[in-house]
Amino acid sequence: MPARYAIANWKMNLPPEGIETYLKALGAGGNGAARIVVAPPFLYLKDVVSLARSRVAVGGQNCADQPSGPLTGEVSAPMLRECGAEFVIIGHSERRTLFGETDAMVARKLGVAIESGLTPILCIGEDQKIRDAGEAGIFVSNQVKSAAVPPLQKVKTLLLAYEPVWAIGTGRNATGAMVREMVTEIRSALERFWPSRFVQSAPILYGGSVTPDNVADLAANGQIDGYLVGGASLDSRKFLAITTA
Ligand code: 13P
Repeated sequence: MPARYAIANWKMNLPPEGIETYLKALGAGGNGAARIVVAPPFLYLKDVVSLARSRVAVGGQNCADQPSGPLTGEVSAPMLRECGAEFVIIGHSERRTLFGETDAMVARKLGVAIESGLTPILCIGEDQKIRDAGEAGIFVSNQVKSAAVPPLQKVKTLLLAYEPVWAIGTGRNATGAMVREMVTEIRSALERFWPSRFVQSAPILYGGSVTPDNVADLAANGQIDGYLVGGASLDSRKFLAITTA
């Protein structure tokens, strides 16, 4: 399937070619129809907003689980919106594993993001141990279930990103066939736990060591609507090659 969304998660990095050159290349390059979203570190969000061309939207990599308050070091969803972000990544596995985000926190963040008018990109995915135990399907289903918050009733668009932890930053991507199996699990969980309109309409992306070299198999066999890209998104040429796959 041609990608509907291609999301660059820079994490705590900047593109070596520089933000301006990078965004110029994205604006000019490629003829794919994918909506491109760049998620820079918070400090650079406004720079990216002001330099982004029409094809490129901007997203936060995280947001607080409250709209405002005494939370030193946090950034709220309304602030992201105010600075020009349209999207926000919620529940990335690095947040869950390295910063202790629980399913309950992820659910609260999702609610605040929706109430603030941001389009959430909800990340779910199992680690290696869970996959080896044959429990990947039930694990992601439970993640979907725990994110079934009341504000879902009013959100216009919400993206899910299947990002298996074992594939993130390891150079070992899930194959298209593996991704397709998990997409089936995720759609079945959406059917059971979320308002019915999401079942078919929610775009599902894949993330985890996506590169120009492995994207063809994912596009052909993954049954996905796009990609959430870390390492390869720091190079405009590589990222563009992925967006047009
Ligand atoms: P990599 O593409 O570097 O594996 O990272 C994936 C990811 O975590 C995107 O959010």
